[in-house]
Amino acid sequence: MENISLQIEKALGFVAAEKVAAYEADVKKYSQDLHNGTGKGNDFLGWLNLPSSITDAVLSEIEETAQKLRARCEVVVVVGIGGSYLGAKAVIDAVSNTFDWLQTERKNPVVVYAGQNIGEDYLYELSQFLNGKQFGIINISKSGTTTEPALAFRILKKQLEDAVGKAEAKERIVAVTDAARGALRTLANQEGYKTFVIPDNVGGRFSVLTPVGLLPIAVAGCDIRQLVAGAVKMEGVCGLDTAYAENPAAQYAAVRNELYKSGKKTEILVNYHPKLHFFAEWWKQLYGESEGKEGKGIFPAAVDFTTDLHSMGQWIQEGERTIFETVISVKTPNYQVEVPADAADLDGLNFLAGKRVDYVNKMAELGTQIAHIDGGVPNLKIEVPQLNEYYLGQLIYFFEKACGISGYILEVNPFDQPGVEAYKKNMFALLEKPGFEEATKAIKARL
Ligand code: PA5
Repeated sequence: MENISLQIEKALGFVAAEKVAAYEADVKKYSQDLHNGTGKGNDFLGWLNLPSSITDAVLSEIEETAQKLRARCEVVVVVGIGGSYLGAKAVIDAVSNTFDWLQTERKNPVVVYAGQNIGEDYLYELSQFLNGKQFGIINISKSGTTTEPALAFRILKKQLEDAVGKAEAKERIVAVTDAARGALRTLANQEGYKTFVIPDNVGGRFSVLTPVGLLPIAVAGCDIRQLVAGAVKMEGVCGLDTAYAENPAAQYAAVRNELYKSGKKTEILVNYHPKLHFFAEWWKQLYGESEGKEGKGIFPAAVDFTTDLHSMGQWIQEGERTIFETVISVKTPNYQVEVPADAADLDGLNFLAGKRVDYVNKMAELGTQIAHIDGGVPNLKIEVPQLNEYYLGQLIYFFEKACGISGYILEVNPFDQPGVEAYKKNMFALLEKPGFEEATKAIKARL
């Protein structure tokens, strides 16, 4: 079976191959630091061996709970934000039929999301959508105290209990949170919800292969065993025993840091399949939160091509030359669509008759790569054999491992996120949360 593969050749006109090769010793040391727990943030390395250490019993428990929700609910609301929602949405969107949720005859429940924003209209419209439907809730928060999901859960829990009664609501709510700490743990214990634990040593953005991601993904009807199997495969491929030149995570970490040093401050993750839009959102969080600190870090951006070639394409081709692209290229689509012949040929497309749509997409991809390289944009390419759970598992682990190494190359702690607290303190002060009296006075004096 093939694996995902990284191609860096199209970046080597911008940074010398010898310079990338020169990272070998550093990358080896940083990889060992990860595996030995001797680097920064070493209390958050639980993700490193997660794929190979997930037990069959845990997977079965997740599948059984998912089955229970699937049997009771036509809609399941996943409540969470950041690392507590993006991984699940990334995988579900990437492998599910795009239009399935619009079908009246479905084998899978519709999965919707809440707690990832504080939009009042969003919550109102969600409540309206859920009205009269059989719905359940997966409430995910590692800290158990995050405002956005807590707020959404309070509203949705009331709606569910009002609709079906407390006893039935209890059967349709699952909490994924810390083993002992946080308001969600207390609430779940008191209400008697089924719970799953997020391990202490796995941070939010690295948690997609824990019940945080696996439970919603299983509820959506996706194959979590294949997802984990793909990740296990990459755990080996990106492991300590793989030579530097053969190790995609090591190569990616090195080349993106060398590009950064050469002035390429923004990395754009590119896809040619709209199903990967939220995979890029997951990737943005992984790299943005891991590396953007101490006044450093590549800015992670993303575009959907060819859609965004008709908007951001201009900037990428001719704007400030501080960017590089990493293209996720899907080798073989899951389905085939051929361009039909047309006798009148008024649109002039008969030259494509009998060709597959993916052939057109691939030529757009190749043409764009050549144009962007000509325009001064280094290109990295990650080839994915097919969009399915197995290869998404590979991609997830590849990006996680590369992120750990890359953060160490940058000499930051890739596993903390001190910067996300600043807005929370101000928000609580402005909301006059008990305990924030001094901060409230101080911030109001500034208004
Ligand atoms: O990566 C992170 O740690 C964050 O994005 C968190 O996942 C996010 O803030 C949600 O936190 P919690 O799961 O504690 O509600």
